[in-house]
Amino acid sequence: MRSSVSTPGTIQLDVHLTDADADAALRADVLHGLRARPKELPPKWFYDARGSALFEKITELPEYYPFRTERALLTDSVDDIARSSGADTVVELGSGSSTKTRLLLDAFGAAGTLHRYVPQDVSEAALRGAMDELHRDYPALALHGVVGDFTKDLHRLPGAEPGGKRMIAFLGGTIGNLLPAARHAFLCHVRSVLEPGEQLLLGTGLVTDPDVMVPAYDDAAGVTAEFNRNVLWVLNRELGADFDVDAFDHVALWDAANSWIEMRLRATRDMHVRVAGLDLDVSFLAGDEIVTEISAKFRTEVVDEFVAAAGFEPTRRWIDPDHRFALSLLTAG
Ligand code: SAH
Ligand code: TRP
Repeated sequence: MRSSVSTPGTIQLDVHLTDADADAALRADVLHGLRARPKELPPKWFYDARGSALFEKITELPEYYPFRTERALLTDSVDDIARSSGADTVVELGSGSSTKTRLLLDAFGAAGTLHRYVPQDVSEAALRGAMDELHRDYPALALHGVVGDFTKDLHRLPGAEPGGKRMIAFLGGTIGNLLPAARHAFLCHVRSVLEPGEQLLLGTGLVTDPDVMVPAYDDAAGVTAEFNRNVLWVLNRELGADFDVDAFDHVALWDAANSWIEMRLRATRDMHVRVAGLDLDVSFLAGDEIVTEISAKFRTEVVDEFVAAAGFEPTRRWIDPDHRFALSLLTAG
């Protein structure tokens, strides 16, 4: 672990996910996922440059309340968060374009503790773009970006500075994109790279009316549908697959028993798909589906249980007036 004090205004980018690593991981995921029943594709492959840009458009949709709700909640609570935290390093996992991060940086800056921002994302394009803009707007801040997979690569994050402490922010409700077992493994992984007393700021979507939740993942303009189908373009380009992308419908439904929104791609006709790069042939009957993403919504009691199970102690919590989103500040025990 690095323990030197970072120099103000320096900018560094570590790429722990090389193209070769990403390619090997994509191959393994697709080979497994397209032979599984039901077929599945892991969501991190949505986020090539086009996918990241489509996600930015999702955040601007009238139906996509999670982004605005979390941003408003952060705006109201961020001074409290900064004061309760006192961290000098803000780490952000799945940082994307780092839009909401600026609220954190401003508040931690005003509280006088902030030295360093460490964004981590699987999308190198999104990370580079975000770091360029932040470097321009926060010239005194040390920036240390890490391209990597937050389910595997957290031990690559820079350590605390001498006498300092880190707060890891995991916003956007992205934790809801992990299945329960993966969520537990992820939180244990986060806990394992923190020292006791360091913190996690966790954004979680809360269970609300399905008539509010479902449209957020199935908007009228069809942007989410394009985002979902983008994973097939990624397979066509990266693995030489010949998916007829437009022959798949976007499906989003609320699974009340599991408390999650499930997104699928549904074949609208019988078809054969060849994935040349994997020497794989896959058949679809009309109506066959690929599960591409879940977005779990929680009750606060459930959040309390799963963070405690990974060794975190609740410190503070902020909830929006409509009870749709929670921000929890947790301390590694
Ligand atoms: N934090 C932002 C973006 C959320 S979208 C917000 O709140 O608006 C999810 C982000 O997580 C994307 O930027 C995506 O590239 C990233 N991501 C998805 N899976 C990942 C993984 N396994 N490792 C690292 N980043 C991942
Ligand atoms: N973390 C986001 C969420 O669960 C990701 C997301 C939003 C998403 N819309 C999507 C993922 C549509 C796949 C498809 O809210």
